Amino acid sequence: MNELMIEKTEDILAHCLDWLQLCIDKRVKYYFELVEDDCELPEMDLPSGGSGGLVGWMRERDLNQEEQFILLLSIASLVRPEMLDVLFSENKNTGRRYTEFGGVHDNAQQGGFVPSVQTALFLLAGGDIGKRLKVMRVFRPDHFFFKERILEAPEKPDSGVLLKTALRLTPTALYQLLWQDEYSPDLRSDFPAKRVRTSLQWDDLVLSPGVKSQVMEIRTWMEHEEKINNAWGLKKILKPGYRALFHGPPGTGKTLTAGLLGSALGRDVYRIDLSMVVSKFIGETEKNLAAVFDLAENENWVLFFDEADALFGKRTQTQSSNDRFANQEVSYLLQRVEDFPGLVILASNFKGNVDPAFVRRFQSLIYFPLPKHEQRLQLWRDSLGHGLRLAEDVDLEEVSNRHELAGGEIVNVVRTVAITVASRHDDLVRAADIEAAIRKEFQKDGRVVS
Ligand SMILES: Nc1ncnc2c1ncn2[C@@H]1O[C@H](COP(=O)(O)OP(=O)(O)OP(=O)(O)O)[C@@H](O)[C@H]1O
Ligand SMILES: [Mg+2]
Repeated sequence: MNELMIEKTEDILAHCLDWLQLCIDKRVKYYFELVEDDCELPEMDLPSGGSGGLVGWMRERDLNQEEQFILLLSIASLVRPEMLDVLFSENKNTGRRYTEFGGVHDNAQQGGFVPSVQTALFLLAGGDIGKRLKVMRVFRPDHFFFKERILEAPEKPDSGVLLKTALRLTPTALYQLLWQDEYSPDLRSDFPAKRVRTSLQWDDLVLSPGVKSQVMEIRTWMEHEEKINNAWGLKKILKPGYRALFHGPPGTGKTLTAGLLGSALGRDVYRIDLSMVVSKFIGETEKNLAAVFDLAENENWVLFFDEADALFGKRTQTQSSNDRFANQEVSYLLQRVEDFPGLVILASNFKGNVDPAFVRRFQSLIYFPLPKHEQRLQLWRDSLGHGLRLAEDVDLEEVSNRHELAGGEIVNVVRTVAITVASRHDDLVRAADIEAAIRKEFQKDGRVVS
């Protein structure tokens, strides 16, 4: 067979939609008895070229004809809606639309025809029941269309309502297949999780060797989980996933470490905002949490819960920051954390001892202490060592020795110093700039400079 080469994404899409159009015409003509033949739909030549995007994905998943058709049908309603207008036709005998053609008709959808599962069944199988059953298998929740979030999942896949479900592309598919771009659900303002991004590298993380090795243990587990579970047969006795609790003073690198673990493992890290998950409607909070966990499981995210204190305090007393989080919701959340098959990190500034019953649920409990002199010196050097010049009177050894600052505080001081230097239209940092900036940082929480 000759390979069909098409380069541009829009041309590839047009080619695929032409095929879809041909199939639809054929089915509709056959239905209205305008043609005699038995309505075998033609095969599509999947063009080569135009790597990535739609065709790349179709090839990778080796879509069969039905799957190609269903995917393109949902794309068509978005990019070439007029081709589905024929399905709006009215049945002259009943004065209504043809039930067979399906489609979702609500007032919000003025304009184009929105195909439903019924539409796909009609177009692909007509009245052939065997074929219909085959096509219906595509709509099972374990199909990659739904597992990879290409199509919006039917709410009740195993009921009669299924046929009325609209075929809609998810935002993930729109970004990934049509725009060849990456979609983060946190672009939506009502999504209760935000992606944690860091431009820092693993080498920028400054921790004592003891803490670093505990962090490395998580990374090693995640990298070798597959082998440990399967090849070494430990799946039977080990719970899937990994749960870690990071605790320690503010600005000691807990969030940063979570972000770096994500990048090292090639996974997105999402920070869940518990306050946004809470809903005033009973039962809604669990539903919101369930949505995040389900998505996280599908997309292989690392989940990060900040200010997790509320979860491991005494469960009967309500806690300040999350006091709308009821005991029942805490139990639900902990259950999901425990069952999550990936990496979950909880972080807190909690000072006291953590309840042993809570600790047992975690594979790692890592304390992030304030940095010691050596680490502070490294943090100073790392952050002032690029582009800025240090005056002769600057002695970073002495600065880091004298001032006990957390990494996050050093970053704040460096920002103040940079502003001071820039305001002089200079690039030279003087010892007095650093001292003044440290004083300012200390003033924030009433500390005095030693
Ligand atoms: N151990 C560290 N190594 C390198 N940089 C650090 C470290 N700790 C803090 N920093 C710097 O400070 C910034 C803030 O730290 P981070 O947000 O990770 O602190 P945190 O422990 O999560 O604090 P909080 O408890 O307030 O959430 C980091 O982005 C990084 O620039
Ligand atoms: Mg943090």
